[in-house]
Amino acid sequence: MSKFLETYARTHGCGELRAVDAGKQVVLTGWVQTYRDLGGSVFIDLRDRDGVTQIRFDASFAAAAHATSRELRNEWCIGVVGEVRSRGGNLNDRMATGAIEVYATTLEVFSKAETPPFAIEDDLDTNEALRLKYRYLDLRRPKLQKNLIARSKITSTTRRVLADERFVEIETPFMVKYTPGGARNFLVPSRLNPGAFYALAESPQIFKQLLMVAGYERYFQIVRCFRDEDLRLDRQPEFTQIDIEMSFVNEAILQGTMEKLIAALWREVLGIEVTLPLRRMTYAEAMDKYGVDKPDLRLGLPLCEVTAPCGRSGFRVFEGVVAAGGIVKCLRVPAADAGDKLSRSMLDGLTDFAKQYGVKGVAFARVQEGGVWQAPFAKAFSDAARDEVNAIAGAVAGDTLLFVAEKAKAANTCMGAIRLYIGDKLGLIRKGEFQFMWLTDPPLFEIEDGHVAASHHPFTSPRTEDEHLLESDPGKVLARAYDLVLNGVEVGGGSIRIHRPELQARVFKALGISDEEAQQKFGFLLEAFRYGPPPHGGIAFGLDRLSMLMTGAESLRDVIAFPKTQKGSDLMTECPTGVSKKQLDELFIQLASDLPVKG
Ligand code: AMO
Repeated sequence: MSKFLETYARTHGCGELRAVDAGKQVVLTGWVQTYRDLGGSVFIDLRDRDGVTQIRFDASFAAAAHATSRELRNEWCIGVVGEVRSRGGNLNDRMATGAIEVYATTLEVFSKAETPPFAIEDDLDTNEALRLKYRYLDLRRPKLQKNLIARSKITSTTRRVLADERFVEIETPFMVKYTPGGARNFLVPSRLNPGAFYALAESPQIFKQLLMVAGYERYFQIVRCFRDEDLRLDRQPEFTQIDIEMSFVNEAILQGTMEKLIAALWREVLGIEVTLPLRRMTYAEAMDKYGVDKPDLRLGLPLCEVTAPCGRSGFRVFEGVVAAGGIVKCLRVPAADAGDKLSRSMLDGLTDFAKQYGVKGVAFARVQEGGVWQAPFAKAFSDAARDEVNAIAGAVAGDTLLFVAEKAKAANTCMGAIRLYIGDKLGLIRKGEFQFMWLTDPPLFEIEDGHVAASHHPFTSPRTEDEHLLESDPGKVLARAYDLVLNGVEVGGGSIRIHRPELQARVFKALGISDEEAQQKFGFLLEAFRYGPPPHGGIAFGLDRLSMLMTGAESLRDVIAFPKTQKGSDLMTECPTGVSKKQLDELFIQLASDLPVKG
């Protein structure tokens, strides 16, 4: 045990000292960020999670400390005792502590460091794989420390706000019964039950509903969820939800309560007042205007549908698509937004961009005086139809119109993506803004090639006024579900649940789940619903996504201490790994013959 820590206790963080502290005796601890040896004096920047302070070792002031300081190197972990002195006119206004420096009288080296594989500083351009391998060094970087500290503030504020609103924090199991239908589950073999598996919970959905049956009324949990999905920048295989369920509520009460949480988070973590109530937009409006169910409202550029005039325009390509049941979606880029940046090559490049959405091409027209179009297909397009399109799009001379003619789903997805692409290229996305919206009234089912699946999950209630369509026209039934969307990212989603067994049975039936199957998969929930279930609903926020947007991080990996890569690996601990035959035998598992067994 070092004598230093027996004698001294840290008095300040490295980001704390100011001019008014001059003259104080202080004890600081941290890591050497930089050092400069000027012979008579050694200067170091000492860093901890709080900031950086300049320390001066000077032979005339403290000879022993100065002699030791000449050995220091980057990332050594040290403690110093010294006096705070003003830097007078020589201050460094790039550092919060730039008005002072500490004249060290005592220096303790707690541990030395090898030269790190990359510099511990922000904006470094080391490849991410190396950073993830040495994650504990990466996590020393101020930016990541700031992100994780903000995340901690998000969770502590959430706990406080929800406790004030009478929510009870209750833990639910991670190892649960496998129920097909949602995300793909990770499986855990049961040694005690040969051949049987647990699933890792993709969310506490069923348990939180059972807690409502059990009378807890308002539940929350900050909970890890596990999903074996294809990963992206905003998806991790294990991620955290702020999971919530409430009894005796409707959408307005639930969303209003959640808005209080959102406002408190923005106020306390970011010092920003969010204007309530948050905007609401139906799914139908979102698809129509933005082509997606999670519109980014930091930019304008709404889409419009011009199917009707295009269907009688004389232009065979559009007419063919419309005749086959497709739609024509249009994006007007106003002259003022485009400036001279919407070049011909950018427009030509859109067709390549669109291909990834299964769309054959993107047509464009430049609008001239009198509404005339300059476009390869202008001659084929009747004047009357063109004038109608101009009127729907609000086009005036100088504007550019982009068109995609496809099946509705592809046209919307593709145009939604083009809107963002163009918005980004033209610098129209207002960075720094937080644009929230509740997306409401989505379809209850996703129906593709006759296959019916739950859009949210099978316990989501249909709107009362649509219940009669469950058997006759399930595609038209809208759900009592909602997502909270922030800057084009779905940060939360939930619904009012079904609590009437007969309605649940009809929804299962529409989903093609037989009575026996429902009994086998969800029997315990259906049984619980025979004992006086309260009306209830809930939501889950993605804590990682919220943290990412609140801190301005670009990837979930920048707000998770030990994240996984795109391939689901942890490069630091090198997992997942193979296991020995003995371990597999204990679990009664045999690998396919071409897979390696370790040991
Ligand atoms: P849902 O599946 O919509 O709802 O998830 C809720 C929120 O969790 C976040 N999220 C993710 N974040 C990171 N990585 C992932 N792989 C990932 N998947 C989802 C999103 C999403 O909005 N039980 C229901 C909620 C309810 O009905 O109450 C549920 O899990 O931000």
